[in-house]
Amino acid sequence: MNILHLSDLHFGTRHWDGNNQILLDKINSYPADLVINTGDSTTDGLESEFQDAGAFLKGITCENIISIIGNHDKRNMRTNEYYKKYIDHDEVILPSRPKLTTKKDLYLKPDISKTKNYFTDHNYIKLITVDNMTLLVVCIDSNVLYQDEGFVEEEILRNISEQIGRIKYDKSMMLIHHSILVGDVTPLLNPLTLTTFIREHKIEDVFCGHTHLFDLRKSTDLCFNSSFTQYMVGSLSSRNRVADYNMFLYLQGWGTSALQIHLIKIFLDDDVMSFAEELIYEENHCCLTV
Ligand SMILES: [Fe+2]
Repeated sequence: MNILHLSDLHFGTRHWDGNNQILLDKINSYPADLVINTGDSTTDGLESEFQDAGAFLKGITCENIISIIGNHDKRNMRTNEYYKKYIDHDEVILPSRPKLTTKKDLYLKPDISKTKNYFTDHNYIKLITVDNMTLLVVCIDSNVLYQDEGFVEEEILRNISEQIGRIKYDKSMMLIHHSILVGDVTPLLNPLTLTTFIREHKIEDVFCGHTHLFDLRKSTDLCFNSSFTQYMVGSLSSRNRVADYNMFLYLQGWGTSALQIHLIKIFLDDDVMSFAEELIYEENHCCLTV
């Protein structure tokens, strides 16, 4: 299976000045079976930004595109409505015991909000089949309304676990906006909750974004003899600090012993866009360069 990993499109005021069609042509030049978008498709969660992000994502020719929500997408009470309208229509997993939830602003107050949807989280699971391999994709909402730090609601994880227990699949992966293994100034506040969930479900790969930086690392739990790999990709199309470039990842042969990971760097110099591709990892080879 070939996978493209994109993140942090940041449509809106933080979106870059590059040509989106040239970027789309580059993305579409890879024979991807699955495209992953790990959140912050917008800058301020505005409807116009969701509309632009949705139009961009529809320009990707791959038939399997899976997006999750980021902290920038969750900056107003209508985020969930806009997200469902323009980005993803999958059924959201609700906690069956709402009174036991602890996540801040998980529910909006009906008397002060005019939204159609009072639940603010967007967690779901998806099954896709490629080359006779059935892949379970667990999509986690690590974002809190109006907040940049991440937090994952345990009651929702419990319900996701119940659903996972009823289905059959060959491999699994998790998509989450915040990094589980790498901290930054606005980190995930309860990462241990996730590592337990990952271990229980034997999830081998986690894909995230948020920091606008690239990082690839494996975590091994010596007590439980389990491990997972985290792919953290930088932004696809944002205005970063001067020295930072945009990027995306191409995982060729994911799920096989022939896995190759390519980092595609995107440069914008006086409105001229250029790309540089580096092979940064090969399964069964230990020599990596970035
Ligand atoms: Fe973010």
